[in-house]
Amino acid sequence: MAPSRLWLLVPLLSAERCDWSKDAQDTPHLQLVQRQLQLRKSRKVRTWDEARDKAAELVPQLSAPELHQLLRGEHFAVTGEPDAGYYVGNIAGVPRLGLPALKMQDAGQGFRATEPKTGGTTTAFPCMLALASTWDEELVELVAAAIATEFKGKGANVVLGPSINVHRVAAGGRNFEYLSGEDGHLGARLTAAYVKGVQDQGVMAVAKHFAFNEQETKRMLMDAHASERSKWELYYAPFRAAVEAGVGAVMCAYNKVNGTYACHNSEILTNDLRSKMGFHGFVMSDWLAMHSPEALAAGLDQEQPGLINLPFGNKYGILSDKVITGLDRKVKEGAARHILTSVFRLGLDLEPGCAPPNCTKELTSDQTKAITKGQGHGAIAFRAAASAVTLLKNTNSLLPLSKGKVHRIAVVGKACHDAAHASYIGKGSGFVQPDSSARTPFQAIKERASKDEIEVVKPEGDTAAEAAALASSADLVIVVIGADASEGADRSSLDLGLDNDALVRGVTSKAPTVVLLQIPGAAPALRERARERGDLVTDL
Ligand SMILES: *[C@@H]1O[C@H](CO)[C@@H](O)[C@H](O)[C@H]1NC(C)=O
Ligand SMILES: *[C@@H]1O[C@H](CO)[C@@H](O)[C@H](O)[C@H]1NC(C)=O
Repeated sequence: MAPSRLWLLVPLLSAERCDWSKDAQDTPHLQLVQRQLQLRKSRKVRTWDEARDKAAELVPQLSAPELHQLLRGEHFAVTGEPDAGYYVGNIAGVPRLGLPALKMQDAGQGFRATEPKTGGTTTAFPCMLALASTWDEELVELVAAAIATEFKGKGANVVLGPSINVHRVAAGGRNFEYLSGEDGHLGARLTAAYVKGVQDQGVMAVAKHFAFNEQETKRMLMDAHASERSKWELYYAPFRAAVEAGVGAVMCAYNKVNGTYACHNSEILTNDLRSKMGFHGFVMSDWLAMHSPEALAAGLDQEQPGLINLPFGNKYGILSDKVITGLDRKVKEGAARHILTSVFRLGLDLEPGCAPPNCTKELTSDQTKAITKGQGHGAIAFRAAASAVTLLKNTNSLLPLSKGKVHRIAVVGKACHDAAHASYIGKGSGFVQPDSSARTPFQAIKERASKDEIEVVKPEGDTAAEAAALASSADLVIVVIGADASEGADRSSLDLGLDNDALVRGVTSKAPTVVLLQIPGAAPALRERARERGDLVTDL
């Protein structure tokens, strides 16, 4: 009997409990499982001191090209996409010395597929601001662990998150990405949970953007000033928590601080982060935030995205071959030691995974069916989203809806049937496209309501008049309003638009109304008006 036939019997015996048959058939997989078990033990035993010693021993053995490739990324093109088989950030490994490739991808709320041809699926977890509004450290740790599982499945070993700046500008374009919300203490608690969740899976987390990247307007030029007290008590609190949780890397910001670019700023990188906070890992630049080689002496350790491929085969980067060759080897070795200390501390060398560009299989894999700590990722994302709902007002105890009283619900507002989910998902490097299994708000409300035999309808078109007409025939109206935001620009206004105001105004006189906001931050304008009229407003 051929061995493969024999294995056919095994699934029948064991399929119910676990899928050992597959492991047994596939020896590399079995080896992987064994290695994972070993890793569990070994990861616990390598301390920062041991990692630092190992790095110090290894760095002098690096040839000049090996040393240089640690200090600058590669394989990122002007199009903003990595080359096929690569990630958003890439540092090549050195197999002869047991150094793994570093494979970095956006971002904190899930693995961002960088190009349509990447294929496969990943779970679009609720944005970081939604996680902040759960106030639930355990849940944040679980979501972070699930994200790390998907990164591993995609072949990556560095999450370019969490984003933890404290909200300062209400219309901040990246507020949806910031885990701290408006509160440095909340940010500190949740950041620690997130970093632990990711790094316990053997994936590196990157706390960003250090420091004072609290707005997107003129983010490449603006100069932030803060008093010592506000700096330490408010803006640094989440970063300090990340350091205390053992974060492997910190990403310095685009903006200036006290007149000097954050990535060139020895006061914040060397004095505050490394000396005062006790950071052991390495600092990478935000993408294109390094301006000259002097940044290395100020405390920056790695240029990202490093050497950018230009059309016609040229490359752009501050640390070009010519420049990097001319730098003092001591400075370069210092930076390399910081990088490798984190690699060894997190045990990335013990679990190197694929080596780009040979990561296509991983990059195109489907991750939405992955399991973390015994839970499906869809269920984890749902629980996080549900916990994030913030009830702002509940006039006459309208919610929860009671089964016998509501028979017909009208769901209105363009966002309710937005199949691409574009009207309420944050854009930029934090964007994660949900796969086709994600339901629209209308579909989800209808599905849930059908369990209680409640009819759910929506108008043909999206005009206020149609919504009002339909509202007259319903026991309850749910107005779904979406707003998005993007990295690179602050929101032009907190207002949700005249259309939406008219929509809400048109239905409130016809039936009890729930306004469901799926928004990337504050919306005081509508909130205030709704409050005046006594409507119910919820935030998601
Ligand atoms: C800017 O410099 C002043 C004076 O040296 C210092 O007190 C302050 O902490 C600095 N601010 C930041 C954000 O580094
Ligand atoms: C990728 O695979 C090719 C073909 O097997 C091999 O020659 C090459 O060395 C691999 N690249 C890396 C970085 O491992």
